[in-house]
Amino acid sequence: MIEERTPTSSSSPGISRGPGDLSPIAFNEVASQENTRLSSGIAEFDRVLGGGIVPGSLILIGGDPGIGKSTLLLQVANLLQRQESTVLYVSGEESEKQIKMRGDRLGMQPTKLFLLTETCLERILECINQLAPQIIILDSVQTVYSDKLPSAPGSISQVREVATQFLFLSKHRSIPTFLIGHITKDGSLAGPKALEHIVDTVLYFEGERYHSHRIVRTVKNRFGAANELGVFEMTNEGLVPVENPSKLFLAERPKGAAGSVVICCVEGSRPLLVELQALVSGTSYVSPRRMAAGVDPNRVSLMLAMLEKRLGLHLLSSDVYVNVAGGLNVDEPSADLGIVAAVVSSYRNLAVNPSTVIFGEVGLAGEVRGVSQALLRIREAASLGFKKCLLPRNSLPLSHLESEIELIAIESVQESFDVLFN
Ligand code: TYD
Ligand code: MG
Repeated sequence: MIEERTPTSSSSPGISRGPGDLSPIAFNEVASQENTRLSSGIAEFDRVLGGGIVPGSLILIGGDPGIGKSTLLLQVANLLQRQESTVLYVSGEESEKQIKMRGDRLGMQPTKLFLLTETCLERILECINQLAPQIIILDSVQTVYSDKLPSAPGSISQVREVATQFLFLSKHRSIPTFLIGHITKDGSLAGPKALEHIVDTVLYFEGERYHSHRIVRTVKNRFGAANELGVFEMTNEGLVPVENPSKLFLAERPKGAAGSVVICCVEGSRPLLVELQALVSGTSYVSPRRMAAGVDPNRVSLMLAMLEKRLGLHLLSSDVYVNVAGGLNVDEPSADLGIVAAVVSSYRNLAVNPSTVIFGEVGLAGEVRGVSQALLRIREAASLGFKKCLLPRNSLPLSHLESEIELIAIESVQESFDVLFN
């Protein structure tokens, strides 16, 4: 339990146009700002922001420690200052020398990038007043504290106060502001989750530190599609955008192994081919183990129950493990058919043809339901040289130009097995 005292003076001025200005403004009189998005210089980063940086937006970037948040934003800062914007990088975690060292490693020589190592909110705001930067980066929101609150840096009330002050600043002066936030496993530091409703855009680094690639996902975006995804690779020269993520995710696929299938999911506006693996083996536990990484474990349980009841598979005496290779999280229902196919493939020890792509939602009656954006998925599969595509009958496009890929439309799970395992 942590005591939280209410501050006596109200310190959050909100985002009004100015104190005392209470009159509403006519909708038509508000200036449109659609074409004023600023490109960050990294296409993959612009993509997750919905096409570029919107003036006056407050963007939160969360992720595990060491995943590359500071690296990415330092690269972005460097590219932005090249476009004649003054960028202020406030760090509460590293000294100027350390940031410079990283910058040297990344081979950058910025002239309009300014560093400030400071953790006191009031002093940071004062510095912003003097420098008048066009872009602000705060690394990290958890290290900054306000004098006005008695609680420790990183506590919920401090983090909220800091974010609110930056919200006011960015809206009022139209300065795009990036806040970095750590996601911590223990609850001692207030996570970025507490800020999601305050900021305009929330980006999270996904996947594991141990993979060389990094996935940045849009969780919320007031100025673009949510669920948009950017793929980067951590190299010696920092984060490099990955041109063809599907190729990367399929790179180490064991061709012809039972239990491995390729599915096509759509994340935001991007189709992605990923390998889904299942392992079914005899259990030595009283209740068999079910484990899923990268897909929703509840969804896997549903599929297993369906297989048991509708197709008579005896999975009760087997452990079932399902994994998405490459550390990607797939929460789209179109992965259902892939899960089912991978489980059955491992159960029967029969490999699925490695040049087949599978997608479709599966219902509890064993029916295969249509999914959105089928054509996009088919095109992606065809462009990577896949020869067959198993898809729901309802999603079969009326016309498609990729004649090199054979489309097999199915209506039930049983039908898909006849195609896959015969
Ligand atoms: P960092 O951006 O400091 O992580 P965060 O700010 O999210 O805590 O990234 C640190 C990791 O990135 C560290 O393990 C080293 C690695 N790294 C590279 O592999 N190449 C590079 O060019 C840089 C700058 C970092
Ligand atoms: Mg950092």
